[in-house]
Formats: sequence, C-alpha cells, structure tokens
Amino acid sequence: MRARRALLYMPGDDRHKIEKALTLDVDCICMDMEDGVALNHKTEARRIIAAALRELTFGRSEKLARINAVGSGLEMEDIEAVLPSRPDGIVVPKVESLEQIHWASGKIEAAELAHGWPVNSIRLIVDVESAKGMLALKEIASHDRLDALIFGAEDYAVSIGALRTIEAWEVFTARSLVVMNARAFGLQAIDMVTIDFRDLEMVRRAAAFGAQLGFTGKQVIHPAQVGPVQEAFTPDDDSIAKASRLVEAFESHQQGGRGAFALDGKMIDMPLVKAAQGVLARARAAGRI
Ligand code: COA
Ligand code: MG
Repeated sequence: MRARRALLYMPGDDRHKIEKALTLDVDCICMDMEDGVALNHKTEARRIIAAALRELTFGRSEKLARINAVGSGLEMEDIEAVLPSRPDGIVVPKVESLEQIHWASGKIEAAELAHGWPVNSIRLIVDVESAKGMLALKEIASHDRLDALIFGAEDYAVSIGALRTIEAWEVFTARSLVVMNARAFGLQAIDMVTIDFRDLEMVRRAAAFGAQLGFTGKQVIHPAQVGPVQEAFTPDDDSIAKASRLVEAFESHQQGGRGAFALDGKMIDMPLVKAAQGVLARARAAGRI
C-alpha cells in the first residue's frame, strides 16, 4: 500500500490552494467539499475539484476528494461531480455504519464499470469521528475497498461533549481504538489534525506521539505542517541502521538454531524482530532504502 504519512486538506473551492499543494511533495492531497467549504460554495467546490482532477498534474501525490457525509443530502451530487474525473480515492466523513460505506463503494463501482476502469482501483478512506462511529468501528473497518481509517478529534470531542485540550487525553481512548481496529483489518490509521498551524514544534510533537501510538500518518491543514509530519512518520537513519543490524543478527542466530539472543545488553526475540522489520518496511515505503 502507498505511504500516506501526511494527508493535506484544502477547501475544494480554492484553486490556488490546490495548485499550491502540487508544489509541496506531499503524500496525499485531499480536496474538501465538506466542513472546509461554506454551504453556499458547495457547487463551486464540486466544479473546481472536478476541473483540477482533469487539468492538473499531481505527480506522486495521491489525489483525493472528500464528499459530505452520507445522509447530509449533499453526498450524491458531491460524488457524482468528482468520480468522472477519476480521483485516486474518495474520503467519506462522519461514517457511523457499514451501510454508508456500501453506498459510497456502490457509487464508485458503478463509475469504474461505466468508464472501463479496474474495479476497486478507486480507493475509499473514511473519517471516524463520533461516539456512534467508534461503536461501529469493527464493521466499518471490514469493508474491502478501504485503505485507511482517519480519526477526527474535533468532531469526536463534540459528539461526546468533551473539552479539547492540548494534552488530548479526552480523545486518547478513541484515538487508540482507531489504530487497533485499523490494524486488525490491515488498514492504515491516520491521526487527528493539529489546528495550531503556526506552532511547528507542537505539530512535530503531536506527530511523533501519533507514530508512537501506531498511527501511520496524520491529517494536515497547512503547507508548513507537511515536512515535519512526513518526517515524523519516516524512520530516521539511526533507526534504520539499528533495525537492519537487529534483523541481520536475528537471521544469523536463527541459522545457528537460537531464537532469543542478546544484542547490546538487550534480549531480542520475535516481537522485537517484527518491530525492526516494520521500521524497514516504513523506510522502504517512504523511499529511504
Ligand atoms: N493547502 C494548500 N495551500 C495552503 C493551505 C492548504 N491547506 N493553507 C494555506 N495555503 C497556502 C495559502 O494559500 C498561502 O499561499 P500563497 O503564499 O501562495 O498566498 C500560503 O499557503 C500561506 O498560507 P497562510 O497565509 O499561512 O495561511 P492562510 O491564512 O491563507 O490559511 C487556513 C489558513 C487555516 C485558512 C488554511 O491553511 C486552510 O484553509 N487550511 C485547510 C482548511 C481545511 O481544509 N479544513 C477542512 C479539513 S480539516
Ligand atoms: Mg470532521
């Protein structure tokens, strides 16, 4: 699966920001029709996103379009406006049931068949951002068009009546549940937005903590956040060197018939080997090795 370390949103009615995103070397570009767009600009956003998909070169960046929630009354026109321009994926917000994913996947499959594109080639990514969504995570994560679950902290906090704080303990359980369910179904897990976009130290710390929790990427809302976030989800040279050394040592000990062994004063066995292999897989996905 392609790396999705940073997923950058911009309002879909803002062609300037879409064009700006193309200069950033960002993993995912998500043109929004939902909460980043005023109600009286939805039509404009649909038109601008469809044109951008057709006219602009996204390079290595994944091109995604976020529709309004299934049941909002806007979703049909949103998805029908952008599918013919062939985005790489559709992002569905505020998902609370498998039926909502079936609806979106059905619309996508109809477009794939109508245009002669391979079935399942347009991917689905969903925002889980409410108490009900959390309860339905297990069934939501089981859909086979899904590549990733996104955790939306601001909407989730509203849905449970929590007050948002910098420490984010009020969303901690939900954040971890998203990682757990994503991983159980082989999906990527994309962490919450850090809204203080001028404070780069804060986004760096938040991204590092998200990576520590098991997230594979993070949502971003401003160009300045892209670099620090992609870096936080890419193993650095030191971790890559340590992981390679550990895997090599493991292989030679295996050949010598030993499972557990000591390296630099630490006991090494299977879970640590798997962790090191995970580091190398992430480095490979990010083009570092
Ligand atoms: N994507 C692409 N380009 C962006 C961008 C984004 N998300 N946010 C800002 N830029 C561009 C600006 O257009 C500006 O370009 P310029 O230098 O060519 O004029 C440059 O980056 C610097 O922007 P800045 O002046 O620092 O910010 P701003 O005041 O223009 O915008 C926000 C601040 C928060 C309104 C803006 O970052 C934004 O719209 N973010 C996304 C919001 C969104 O999509 N929310 C829904 C999903 S959570
Ligand atoms: Mg949201």
